[in-house]
Order: sequence, then structure tokens, then C-alpha cells
Amino acid sequence: MKRKTLTQYLVEQQRSAQALAPEVRLLIEIVSRACKTISHAVSKGALGGVLGSLESENVQGEVQKKLDVISNEVLLEANEWGGHLAAMASEEMETIHLIPNRYPKGEYLLLFDPLDGSSNIDVNVSIGTIFSVLRAPQAASGRQVTEEDFLQPGSTQVVAGYAVYGPQTMLILTIGQGVVGFTLDRETGSWVLTSENMTIPADTKEFSINMSNMRHWAPPVRRYIDECLAGKDGPRGKDFNMRWIASMVADVHRLITRGGIFMYPWDSRDPKKPGKLRLMYEANPMSMLVEQAGGASTDGNQRILDIQPTALHQRVGVVMGSKNEVDLVTRYHHEVKV
Ligand code: AHG
Ligand code: MN
Ligand code: MN
Repeated sequence: MKRKTLTQYLVEQQRSAQALAPEVRLLIEIVSRACKTISHAVSKGALGGVLGSLESENVQGEVQKKLDVISNEVLLEANEWGGHLAAMASEEMETIHLIPNRYPKGEYLLLFDPLDGSSNIDVNVSIGTIFSVLRAPQAASGRQVTEEDFLQPGSTQVVAGYAVYGPQTMLILTIGQGVVGFTLDRETGSWVLTSENMTIPADTKEFSINMSNMRHWAPPVRRYIDECLAGKDGPRGKDFNMRWIASMVADVHRLITRGGIFMYPWDSRDPKKPGKLRLMYEANPMSMLVEQAGGASTDGNQRILDIQPTALHQRVGVVMGSKNEVDLVTRYHHEVKV
């Protein structure tokens, strides 16, 4: 059986009843091509001189790795000229990046975490790129895009996806019609459809959380994890397994592949911070993918995709994955409130 490529999949989607706009198809093709370039740079490692840190810090006060900056530039350059975008936003840029006047402007906004899991770059562990596509609300009026135009709830996303640079490079994508996965064939340079209709089982025995933060967690999170740890003899009546890669892309890829629950909840380390992960280019695209795969995603109290953003780089607590587990964590949060 001959497998479909990403291009074939997108053309079919464009022709089908829920037609994919040609501009969005082009956008996905360009983002996926940029991910190929990033994958190539990642795989060169020390041979390509891409490992290590720079002197600079990003807007979040994090030291930038060389690959954070390289990946950001690859995505900016690839997406500037196509005519499909009005502006872009990135974890690595303080404010939005307008499409320069020398290029035509389009009706979409692109947001990305160019390199997720930066702490894993130098130790040869899976990392990734996360992206999200929104409509540009000002497009019809012809005025210039502002940061406020990006502040739309995740439920309005048109496309969400990620590339994971692991033992294989894969691209996981949703255009709102379920979740599909492609594997990069390095010999032909094509993204080949290898996972159709990816679905997350409702139940799981695997959780993913950074346990070193346990003493800072809120009581509902502590309760949930305590009960998992109690195993067969505890209230859950089954043993759980734990995994923490510390690349959200890789941890979420595992749960989209075989189920599980991923949590980076709010904790009291810095009470002003509403979480570690960023809403617009980490939590929202991953939440759309997880929901499209039949899972659930919440900040503990509220569906992440319903949150009205107030700032481009805002942070949020994240609990996502197998539906029954996420619902249980949500219930524990609600019980504390009543
Ligand atoms: P980034 O590298 O884009 O800044 O994101 C890192 C995030 C996420 O990928 C991961 O789940 C989390 O940080 C790991 O944090 P800890 O080191 O606190 O476990
Ligand atoms: Mn990240
Ligand atoms: Mn990043």
C-alpha cells in the first residue's frame, strides 16, 4: 500500500466538504518545511555547531539556547513571503512580528514555540516545535495588526500542530478534523502519513508531572498524585507509572500516542505566576490537539480553550490527556471550592 504524503492529505482536505482554505494549506506546507529545516539542524548537533547557549535572554527571562534562536529565525524567514500571514508571534520575541511591507499580507496569524524543551537540547533528548494558527480579525478592515488581535481564546484556532525531533521526526496536526501524524522520510524529504485518526484512550495508568515541585502544589493536585502513588491498595485500586521528559512536545506526544495525563499545574513557587507553560503557543495548540484526539484539557478550573487571553506571553496551569483522569483532577479542584 502506498502511503499518503502531507501534500496529498492537505489537497484531499481542501477538496472535501469541509474544505481547507488554500491559504491555510500553503501555511501548513510552509510551517512543515521550516520544521524539516529545524529537524536537520537539530540532528547535526555538535557537528553543526548548534548546541549550547547564547548570552541573550528572552522576554521570559530565560537564557536563550542557540537552537531557540536558529529555530525562531527559520520559522520567521519561511513564513514572511508566502502572502498567507498578517503577523507572527513567538516565545522568543517580546512583541509581534509584522509581515514586512515588501510582501503581500494574508488573513492569518501564526504563533509558535520554535524550540520546546530547550533544557534537553544539549543532552540529545527529544525536543520539538509547537504552532498555532488564528484568523487575523483586522484583515477585512485593512488596518495594521496589533498584539490585541492575537488575544483570542484557543477555541478559535484554525490549525494546531507540533513537530517532535526524536528518534524519528514527526509532525502531528489538526485542522479541526481529528488528529493525524506524519513521519519525515529523510531520503525523499516527504512527510508521510503514518498515523490516521490518533485517539487518546479515556483511561490510563500513566501520569507525567515534575515531582520535584510537589511541596509547592495546590491541595487538589497533591490529592490526585497521592492517590496515584498509593497504587493498587489506594483509592484508585490500580498501580500507576510515571514519565517526565521535560519537553512538553515529547510528553504530550506520548499521551497522544498511548494515553496518559500530563500536568504542569499552578504551584506556589512564585504566587504571581499563574503557571509555567505559556497559553498562546504551548497550552492552546496542545489543548486543541488533545481535544481533537478525544482527550480533555483544563487549567484545573476551566477548559483551557475557553480562556480569554489578556497578554501574549501569559502563563497558565495545564492538565491534559486521558479524559477520565483529567475529569477527576477537575472534580478535585471543584470540590475544594464548595
Ligand atoms: P521551553 O523549552 O519552550 O521554554 O519549554 C520548556 C517547558 C516544557 O517543554 C516542559 O514541559 C517544561 O518546560 C519543563 O519544565 P521543568 O524543567 O520545570 O520540569
Ligand atoms: Mn516550550
Ligand atoms: Mn521554547
